[in-house]
Amino acid sequence: MKFTIAVLPGDGIGPEVTNQAIKALEAVADVYDHVFIFKEAKMGACAIEKTGSPLPDKTIEICRKADAILFGAVGDPKYDNNPSAKVRPEQGLLRLRKELGLYCNVRPVKAYSKLIKNSPLKREVITGVDIVVFRELTGGIYFGNKELSENQKSAFDVCTYSVEEITRVTHLAFKAAQDRKKKVTLVDKANVLETSRLWRKTVTEVAKEYKDIELEFLFIDNAVIQLILNPKQFDVILSENLFGDILSDQSSAIGGSIGLLASSSVGKKNALFEPIHGSFPQATGKNIANPLASILSAAMMLEHLGLQEEADAVRRGVEKSLDLGITTEDIKGKNQYAAATSKVGDFISDYIMNQEDSNINFQNIHMGQSTII
Ligand code: IPM
Ligand code: MG
Repeated sequence: MKFTIAVLPGDGIGPEVTNQAIKALEAVADVYDHVFIFKEAKMGACAIEKTGSPLPDKTIEICRKADAILFGAVGDPKYDNNPSAKVRPEQGLLRLRKELGLYCNVRPVKAYSKLIKNSPLKREVITGVDIVVFRELTGGIYFGNKELSENQKSAFDVCTYSVEEITRVTHLAFKAAQDRKKKVTLVDKANVLETSRLWRKTVTEVAKEYKDIELEFLFIDNAVIQLILNPKQFDVILSENLFGDILSDQSSAIGGSIGLLASSSVGKKNALFEPIHGSFPQATGKNIANPLASILSAAMMLEHLGLQEEADAVRRGVEKSLDLGITTEDIKGKNQYAAATSKVGDFISDYIMNQEDSNINFQNIHMGQSTII
């Protein structure tokens, strides 16, 4: 089959990790006889430098027309350290989500058995954890009116939600739970916030259509504790935009690195796939960043395009790289060498191309010397 993929590498380590995901997709195209047409476009600080805008019209156009969007990361210390900057890289991503109506952000969290020893949490606490965070992505405080007063002594950000915004993402979360452990936990702050009370009421209403699903409520302050003390109690976590952002970053401690977490952002028509991590400026250009979140985002993309077998092959490649310890610094074991970003990508694409060949010596692939023995 033929697919057009918009590729937005973005800033910092974005291009490096996205390149590895593209390698995996090229291997998939080769083995399964597909054609991926990659259309690269700019978003973030790199787009500001070039055009003055973090999201040029041309980028939106390319994304609209594509079958899927693969995105790296946005952000640059130049803007982080300047709170008065009017134009910011992150605005590009937020506007793209809004323009394309990508209201549902899905972030799976898994404890890979090989990495359990890397987690700051105890083995028995995280073994078997399998959570998916459903984060509402185009509403709430991210998109409400915001203002800094003229004398710069006060500021506000408004948080608004409509029943419709809550309902549509809730349906997707409940449908996902039906194929999983049949539990949804709504995380909110309903003891304080009016929007949270609307979430509880609306989600309770939607839940009536899903009699097989258990619905539970947790306040955000309790949820962040529970996520660390007993993450196994969760199946699908549903939350609004800001709480969902925080919960998904926090849950990366379970897997041992934020460099492992992939995500999809879907709307009515378009879909975007991205690692949940940021642009990691300290690592830019050093070939040390973990590409797995990006590669796993490509797997989510393949699944979305209906290519389940292909997505499974990519995921098996990732698991194999973990099993053999072909991993970047952030997740390497005590006595292991760290592999470069590009080496991890090479290994996984090699694995996809040679999966059926049990004679491949994968240890040598690690050294960049793939040989048949
Ligand atoms: C994320 C990021 C973004 C967000 C930033 C870059 C605007 O943290 O995708 O989680 O807050 O949504
Ligand atoms: Mg985030």
